[in-house]
Amino acid sequence: MVHPIVVYGDPVLRQRAKEIKQGTDISELVTDLFETMHAANGIGLAAPQVGRSVRLFVVDGTTISKDAEEAEPGMENFKMAFVNPVLIEELGKPWEFEEGCLSIPNIREKISRKGTVRIRYYDENWNLKEEEYDGMKARIIQHEYDHLEGKLFIDYLSPLKKRLLKGKLNDISRGEVDTEYRILAPLRK
Ligand code: NI
Repeated sequence: MVHPIVVYGDPVLRQRAKEIKQGTDISELVTDLFETMHAANGIGLAAPQVGRSVRLFVVDGTTISKDAEEAEPGMENFKMAFVNPVLIEELGKPWEFEEGCLSIPNIREKISRKGTVRIRYYDENWNLKEEEYDGMKARIIQHEYDHLEGKLFIDYLSPLKKRLLKGKLNDISRGEVDTEYRILAPLRK
């Protein structure tokens, strides 16, 4: 089922999401997250973005076109769910990339993040994994992991940049923004 995507200003995006009890059947939520992400042409989506404050996000790099900025080798296999993930380590040289977020439509800003992550997580069948990712895959993981911590990419911007975005962010919270997917705006009248 495709859900509307919760946008900026909704408190669920600012909560620290709760762990999922091990063994819980999460197949429906995982399916819904993939369907919702695909309907919005996203490459990552975290459960809080559909209003569920639990520690789960999905990624799918398989739909990135070869000439897109996000394209990189190995993306064709980067499709999975991360359940109760723990970001063990972030390392490597920070690099900048213009990030966007389905919960903050039509805003893209250069964000600096470290190049490599080590992450421990369960897959959707509750198999425990520990893996290392770098490049764009690491960045997608860092962005989605932040959602589980109640953090958004705009939090990394300078106070000046944030001030400049304030009007646009208020519009988003009121639902006054053009998207090709359904949104749930907290301050829509
Ligand atoms: Ni996001």
